[in-house]
Amino acid sequence: MEVKNTSIIITGGASGMGAATAKRLTQLGARVALLDLNIDGAKKIADDIKAIAVLCDVTDPASVEAAIQAAEKHQGPARVCINCAGIIHSRRMISQQGPMPLDEFKKIIEINLIGTFNVMRLAANVMIPLTPVGDSAERGVIINTASIAAFEGQIGQAAYSASKGGIVSLCLPLARELAQFGIRVMTIAPGLVDTPMFEKLSTEARASLAASVPFPKRLARPEEFAMLAQQVIENPMLNGEVIRLDGGLRMAAR
Ligand SMILES: NC(=O)c1ccc[n+]([C@@H]2O[C@H](COP(=O)([O-])OP(=O)(O)OC[C@H]3O[C@@H](n4cnc5c(N)ncnc54)[C@H](O)[C@@H]3O)[C@@H](O)[C@H]2O)c1
Repeated sequence: MEVKNTSIIITGGASGMGAATAKRLTQLGARVALLDLNIDGAKKIADDIKAIAVLCDVTDPASVEAAIQAAEKHQGPARVCINCAGIIHSRRMISQQGPMPLDEFKKIIEINLIGTFNVMRLAANVMIPLTPVGDSAERGVIINTASIAAFEGQIGQAAYSASKGGIVSLCLPLARELAQFGIRVMTIAPGLVDTPMFEKLSTEARASLAASVPFPKRLARPEEFAMLAQQVIENPMLNGEVIRLDGGLRMAAR
């Protein structure tokens, strides 16, 4: 699908990979709405790149429905939906403080996995009645963000890995289900990406993480996620697959 003039919604667009993707796609002529809980952050980015910011909590069905409608009113129905909203979590199931509180596990699953599904189902519902476009008669593209922790979760990542593993697992069945409508579903599984998440780490910790990447020996840049998202939108044969973006990194147990 062509990026130019296409209406695109990006959850988690206020920061990191979502913001970098929004920037790249607006530069290519897309009409982009940033859907985020952090509305001030989203507005700041939107003003810079000529996008719009819409308040949205991905876990809340009414909030997502309203946000998708608000974006549609402004820029037309979204044919591309990119799910970047998510939170990181690190805690052992059993630590010195005892078993992980169950609510903590539920919260990660609710935001990362259920939030992604919630946005997908409402975004796809808007795409289905649209007129197909281009040589391949496409109606839409959905791109989700998993993590390499879906495959090699480290000690302390059980909740986060489970949430991202769920995103990996729903990719193929939903690509199959939505194929009849000309809607593709793809997933990007990043490795270590230099976003606000990592800015909180010390220089030493960042250097040690960077050294663990085979090549290039550095954290990925959010712009590199944006490059791949563009390719996924433009290449109609990419469907039902999870692409790792990790410089060859395979994380160890700790
Ligand atoms: N940074 C990494 O190394 C890395 C690696 C693998 C996967 N990921 C995943 O990539 C995605 C983007 O990560 P990032 O590093 O750009 O993070 P980030 O923290 O920079 O951005 C995440 C955004 O999601 C938003 N968000 C959180 N909860 C929300 C909710 N309930 N509703 C709407 N918006 C919400 C935040 O406000 C924030 O703007 C996340 O899903 C993350 O798990 C990140």
